[in-house]
Amino acid sequence: MLETEKQIKLSNYQLGIDFAKQQDQEDELSVYRNQFHIPKDANGNELIYLTGNSLGLQPKSTKSYINQELEDWANLGVEGHTEAKNPWLPYHEFLTESMAEIVGAKPIEVVVMNTLTANLHFMMVSFYKPTQTRYKIIIEADAFPSDKYAVESQLRHHGFDDKEGLILWKAREGEELANYEDLEAIMETHGNEIALIMIGGVNYYTGQFFDLKRITKLGHKHGCVVGFDCAHGAGNVELNLHDSGADFAVWCTYKYLNSGPGSLAGCFVHERHAYDKTLNRFTGWWSHNKQTRFNMRHEFDVLPGAEGWQLSNPPILSMAAIKASLDIFNKVGIKKLTEKSKKLTGYFEFLLQQLGSENIKIITPNNPEERGCQLSIQVKNADKALHDELTKAGVISDWREPDVIRCAPVPLYNSFQDVYHMVEKLKKVLN
Ligand SMILES: Cc1ncc(COP(=O)(O)O)c(C=O)c1O
Repeated sequence: MLETEKQIKLSNYQLGIDFAKQQDQEDELSVYRNQFHIPKDANGNELIYLTGNSLGLQPKSTKSYINQELEDWANLGVEGHTEAKNPWLPYHEFLTESMAEIVGAKPIEVVVMNTLTANLHFMMVSFYKPTQTRYKIIIEADAFPSDKYAVESQLRHHGFDDKEGLILWKAREGEELANYEDLEAIMETHGNEIALIMIGGVNYYTGQFFDLKRITKLGHKHGCVVGFDCAHGAGNVELNLHDSGADFAVWCTYKYLNSGPGSLAGCFVHERHAYDKTLNRFTGWWSHNKQTRFNMRHEFDVLPGAEGWQLSNPPILSMAAIKASLDIFNKVGIKKLTEKSKKLTGYFEFLLQQLGSENIKIITPNNPEERGCQLSIQVKNADKALHDELTKAGVISDWREPDVIRCAPVPLYNSFQDVYHMVEKLKKVLN
């Protein structure tokens, strides 16, 4: 970005609490904050919660959604599968359209099932099809550990060496962000050895939102399958998964989708694979044709679309929590959320820059199109003690070794005043 553009961008914001208050007053989404439980300190004061990138807050409505299922279970027992207010047999279908809207996909491309790393493995069962000459996998160098462990174990599972078979897309020396030219160069050199590109859609550490379409196009040009882990993207940025052309994607629902610790995960399989019965996959009775599922003793007949990757009947209590959250997303819409998000994170960036501290560096991309709400703040010469001070001061953020504080002002429930107070507290701690 040109220096003048930067100035213009910065000049939209002002210092001082009055500006934050005014922004909150003008923010049409500010009413949603009250729909969430905001954690409090021992004196009953609301904490500044900036870790929706790790665990989203609980909607106040979640309890009643779960209670509905508990009551139906108490009153109906097994009949709840068909007679519950929200019958359990098709319960996952109640989530599909909203989830598809959030990740920019068609309903046939999306299903909620299992957990994130499990889904990643199930996707690789179908889409990682190595041969003796084309078997390597590319991930970004700073991929989330679970993704790295998962792809390494897939390499070993197929009889390959996990060191030799794994190619890391690294940031350049002295830089934090991965560079597309470097990925292109890897593909030029190794393209015909690579079976799968598996990238975190928004990197968990830097907050870099990758150009999914560009990566997919590049991978497909070289004959590779392309998948994304969108744990840090779903509910945070506009993923446009269908248009990206990606073969598959997986994400969790406990971060920006506010569905509770360890909740179920999402899975996307591009429409072009929806009716491909030749794709190898692990199956169970929930991947079988709904019409004949309960006739039992039938030859396996796979469901079309992402649903055809389900295995088991799903945990309804966890799905009820997802439904509570998705119903809020339905009202707000991902477009409005990302609009506010850009403003809120831009304001956060502005205040951090105004601190003028040489010890602070934001490693997240400066371009709002290349990030979601998270800013990763590198603090030079600091250790976790600094983060502990911030926590004591009432800011819930997270620390990632060696020197990064990750903060995510979530547009659904965080305010401009949250951001203002966070930076004020950081200033004190730094001094
Ligand atoms: C990017 C990413 N991938 C994978 C995981 C692991 O998720 P799970 O434990 O739900 O499998 C996480 C968890 O935070 C994550 O952030």
